Amino acid sequence: MFSFEFYNPTRLVFGKDSVNSLDDLLPSTARILVLYGGSSAERTGTLAEVRHALGDRVVFEFAGVEPNPTYETLSKAVELVRQEYIDYLLAVGGGSVIDGSKFVAAAAKFEGDSWNILEAWGSNVVEALPLGVVLTLPATGSEMNNAAVITKAESKTKALLATPHVFPQFAILDPTKTYTLPARQLANGVVDAFVHVIEQYLTYPVGASVQDRFAEGILQTLVEIGPKVVFEPADFDSRANLMMSATLALNGLIGSGVPHDWATHFIGHELTALYEIDHARTLAVILPSLLNARREQKKAKLLQYGERVWGITTGHDEQRIDLAISKTKAFFESLGVKTSLSAYGLGTSAIEDVVANLEKHRMTALGEQQEITPVVARKILMASL
Ligand code: NZQ
Ligand code: ZN
Repeated sequence: MFSFEFYNPTRLVFGKDSVNSLDDLLPSTARILVLYGGSSAERTGTLAEVRHALGDRVVFEFAGVEPNPTYETLSKAVELVRQEYIDYLLAVGGGSVIDGSKFVAAAAKFEGDSWNILEAWGSNVVEALPLGVVLTLPATGSEMNNAAVITKAESKTKALLATPHVFPQFAILDPTKTYTLPARQLANGVVDAFVHVIEQYLTYPVGASVQDRFAEGILQTLVEIGPKVVFEPADFDSRANLMMSATLALNGLIGSGVPHDWATHFIGHELTALYEIDHARTLAVILPSLLNARREQKKAKLLQYGERVWGITTGHDEQRIDLAISKTKAFFESLGVKTSLSAYGLGTSAIEDVVANLEKHRMTALGEQQEITPVVARKILMASL
């Protein structure tokens, strides 16, 4: 196991009606900005509950944080924060609203051009406004981590920031808030959480038995609940377990002391930035071909994954690996998530654009061994056609 430091200060408040705890969690004198997305928070009644729980605090609202939140929109929120001397942010939504709020939290305290935060991956952030979260879409894990992914619409760049200053102070996880999600977003949630675990687990063995078993437990849970979550009427236990899976998949714990891959994510980010394909769907396209392309380097973990997650105990090694990859792909498809570029209307010219953008964004040595060069990425994309 590698050396590591694990730090996670986010308080989780889990359960039905947990939105009511906002009153205890937020200072009574806070000047709060509630950030949310398009129409869902208002339509589902979550915003009304939030407003009620905030009581007579000074509250401002910023609506319209888009899926794959843009720097352009968020910069307007930063202006509002400065104008109104706001001192606490409350994100009500999924990964996009939470990520957007993290950026606003950091940018509001940043001197100079705030895009520099993303140029420096967040390493130049020295302070941020405090942030709380009411989660409405379990998927990204953003509610309990220190990362945010922001898009510059003008240049179609999806960039990442990570800094301990943007860990949410608290995250409210009420599984009943997921009852209004359409099947598409529920399937996205299952797939995104699944791939987060894979990117931290399916690399090479370092003797991290606890992290491996945690990872396999989350993967098995997602395989078990996935079809229920997406296709059956909302039920508390399966939604609660989806929330637990998504939050624990990316709160830093299972990734402590182990190698990370993240190539699927970085290639996927270019697909979202260029073609606006949902984040999770890009992962479902890339992951199976990436595992196949890296089957030698990932051999030991692919065999372990096949055996422990999919129960594959017979056949020679190459057969087992083929089966583990095809079961992964079939799982995504079974949730209604397409796994080929052509299913999203993309062909070979799109591949050249993605590879060019990987080069432009200096994503030229990806994966746990930094061996996924643009040439390898092109092969993976061709195999995803
Ligand atoms: O905009 P509204 O009307 O609110 O609708 C949203 C949005 O259209 C809707 N929605 C959310 N909660 C709902 C609901 N609809 C009905 N009922 C509810 N309870 O869902 C749509 C998608 O929301 P979004 O927040 O975009 O989805 P998700 O949570 O999948 O977030 C995706 C973003 O997170 C980033 C992605 O790159 C992408 O920008 N990621 C962030 C990560 C992190 N911070 O650690 C890691 C991830 O790998 C990922 O990159
Ligand atoms: Zn993701």
